[in-house]
Amino acid sequence: MKVIVNDRELDLPPGTSAIDAVFQAGYDVPYFCSQEYMSPIGACRLCLAKVGAPRKDRATGEWILDEETGEPKVFWFPKPMATCTTAVMEGMVIDTKCQETKNAQKSMMEFTLINHPLDCPVCDKGGACELQDRAYEYGEGVSRFDFDKRHQEKHHALSPLITLDRERCIHCKRCVRYFEEIPGDEVLDFIERGGHTYIGTLDDGLPSNFTGNITDICPVGALLDATSRFRGRNWEYRHTRTTSTDDSSGSAIMVDSRTGRIERIKAARHTRINHDWIDDGTRFGHEYADAEDRLKTPLIKKDGTFQEATWEEASAFISDKLQATKNVGVAIRADATLEEAVGAAALADHLHGTYDYYPKTPAAITPSATPATLDDVATSNALFVLADVTEEVPIVDLRIKDALKGVTPPEPMAHGIPIADLRLKEHMPKKTAILSVAAPYQVDLMKYAGRTITYSAGHEAALLRALLATAKGNTADVDGLSIDQNLGIDQNLGIDHELGIDQDGLSALVKQLQDNDDAVIVYGGWVLASAEASELANQLAKVTGSKVLPLAPMANSRGLEVIETATGDVLEDASALILSNLNPARASHFVNHRKTLDLLVVHDTFMTETAELADVVLPAKTGYEKEGTVVNLEGRILPLNAVPVDSGTSEDFTGLVKALGDAMGTRLAGRSVRSARRALKETLGFDLADLPSEGMLPENLPTQHHGRPASSEKSANAVIVPTMSRPEYLSRNPRLQIAQGALALRVNPADAHKHGLTAHERVKIDVSGVTRRLVIKTDERVPAGVSLVPAIAEQPCGLARVDFASARPDPVMPVPPVQTDAGTMTAEVGD
Ligand code: SF4
Ligand code: FES
Repeated sequence: MKVIVNDRELDLPPGTSAIDAVFQAGYDVPYFCSQEYMSPIGACRLCLAKVGAPRKDRATGEWILDEETGEPKVFWFPKPMATCTTAVMEGMVIDTKCQETKNAQKSMMEFTLINHPLDCPVCDKGGACELQDRAYEYGEGVSRFDFDKRHQEKHHALSPLITLDRERCIHCKRCVRYFEEIPGDEVLDFIERGGHTYIGTLDDGLPSNFTGNITDICPVGALLDATSRFRGRNWEYRHTRTTSTDDSSGSAIMVDSRTGRIERIKAARHTRINHDWIDDGTRFGHEYADAEDRLKTPLIKKDGTFQEATWEEASAFISDKLQATKNVGVAIRADATLEEAVGAAALADHLHGTYDYYPKTPAAITPSATPATLDDVATSNALFVLADVTEEVPIVDLRIKDALKGVTPPEPMAHGIPIADLRLKEHMPKKTAILSVAAPYQVDLMKYAGRTITYSAGHEAALLRALLATAKGNTADVDGLSIDQNLGIDQNLGIDHELGIDQDGLSALVKQLQDNDDAVIVYGGWVLASAEASELANQLAKVTGSKVLPLAPMANSRGLEVIETATGDVLEDASALILSNLNPARASHFVNHRKTLDLLVVHDTFMTETAELADVVLPAKTGYEKEGTVVNLEGRILPLNAVPVDSGTSEDFTGLVKALGDAMGTRLAGRSVRSARRALKETLGFDLADLPSEGMLPENLPTQHHGRPASSEKSANAVIVPTMSRPEYLSRNPRLQIAQGALALRVNPADAHKHGLTAHERVKIDVSGVTRRLVIKTDERVPAGVSLVPAIAEQPCGLARVDFASARPDPVMPVPPVQTDAGTMTAEVGD
């Protein structure tokens, strides 16, 4: 479609907005209400421009020609048009330079500023404010309105995490539309009319898991991140784009730091992964990196007490001990980088020991069926989700909601993602019929699903076998499966062995998967906890022609399958251990096992229960401070870039390998990111040093998975469930903890009564041999007889046994209260 913008002619596809035509041509118009990935609504009227188009004669169907030039005559629209809601037409002419356009934009800017307080010198958005920038570019510099401006609340706590300055709001409606269109949680709206209009919520707080994104898209300083408010000016921040290690999505984040501290995290755009969004756990879960009690120097235990040491002294001490030790185990957490894993494997190899990572699922993350990408999910017309995806990998929840809109994600134009995608509308009907969600309890995504299946906990394999039998036409097999399975759930606690779906439902779900060649099966930790269930999910995908997306439990769970690991359980089998970011000492059997260990080295960010038992403690960098590479759940290889944080002498595992190698007089592979990449080049077939900032999705990643046997819980009465926030750091992220609540043991009220537990009580309780510190939460939606326990690295998703008789009061830990705009708040404490 031929379009002329000022002096430039473009060829654009039909449906392109006039604003995108302007930017595509390399020109500019101001705008506030339009926002990439959201519907254009024409609210702010800043993008006005003089627009015209030729017309056809209704009688002849021929273009009406200009008598002088003989070309189709341009008929100018009577008023300047909002370019964001105007679709281009054949021969359209857009004039952004004429006086008429300039007058319209200048007037709208003056109008927008009528009630804006212009308190830029004390506003956190100053220096990075769309209104400030556009007012300089397109404003008159003076106002003809000299009456008093509107006065409204300036410190309204929308939640413990977000503060609203109602005076600064220019009513662009981005935040309101965001909640409705992206997470689908309608928790914010305009209240009152005209000049009295303000943003507000009828609910208490913002009941959504994706609230922080409104602070990124607010074009003024009205919505602000409460963790960073008043801490620094935008020009003082060092901006580091990196990959989040909070979950396996590989979401792009921008970490803003200053004087060695992380001040805030914002979403960075990744067009294939998270678009412009991140969940609240990822955004607000960084305060632990600056916690006062962070380990910053190595410690060596002498005569029962730790003494500070240098890395050289600590390494020499470890090296000496290792000389007399056999059977060394080296174990890292599954959010370690590929480079750290190379170092860990090389260290174990040098010591003739074994290397492994935790949590490692019994089933391989790398699927045997055709793997799906996040874009495959977002464009699917048949989605079967067997997981609590919102807690497990929240970005997948948002990409599923993309699919419910029925609009394919926009492709970037020359100027980036379209500013106004005219296919998107406010309050679009959601195609809920394409979504089926199965879980052992009511999960958040079920609100948006056309078909929900609430099966008895632990019956993932039975459900998948029933679906597979249906897909193969063996429905006779299905009846037997639904009744006779005994998967270890304690029947005394009243659990029915049900699949939560009848034969008609099974058939309809299978037919939907078979009928759509873009079908995707998404499965999470409960399926990965069983090699059988995982194999059945992949078989079901193959039989129905679906793709699969396994939700890897941690940031690099998929990547670590590239490197050969131990076949047994390093934590159980070794006689000396080097552990990175693992805390097995909450399990009593590890405490006993510790007594038999010749050496325990712990590399961690905080003094954990396991670190307390160690001979040597080494300070560890957090995921924000590392340089390296991770592989997300799609198999996409993504870079980590180091944020400058004052973490003392902390090192990542490659630093530990270098220090130990130096002490032992050897140069190990993985002693630096560079040396690890040399080793990885042979495995991967390409050099990670050449990785583009957006990462890459190789055709095939090699895999070496040796599953660890599933927990053999014989009388389970609990499900280990995923959590959006990193459990190991939650108590050091006080604002996030206030907003999301402490780690909880969720029980049905009847069960709480039966076991003598009361809501909000803090308890220490034994969960399959691990002492957990949890707050009791009663919830009608939790099935009777099954309690829900949050997963940790040492206790991943699956079944467990809660020993209610072991519950004992947990003394209140001294948590500093947090000053929020809603007053002083204190967090409940969990693990
Ligand atoms: S608070 Fe910000 S995003 Fe929301 S309507 Fe006001 S200016 Fe727009
Ligand atoms: S009217 Fe707001 S961007 Fe067009």
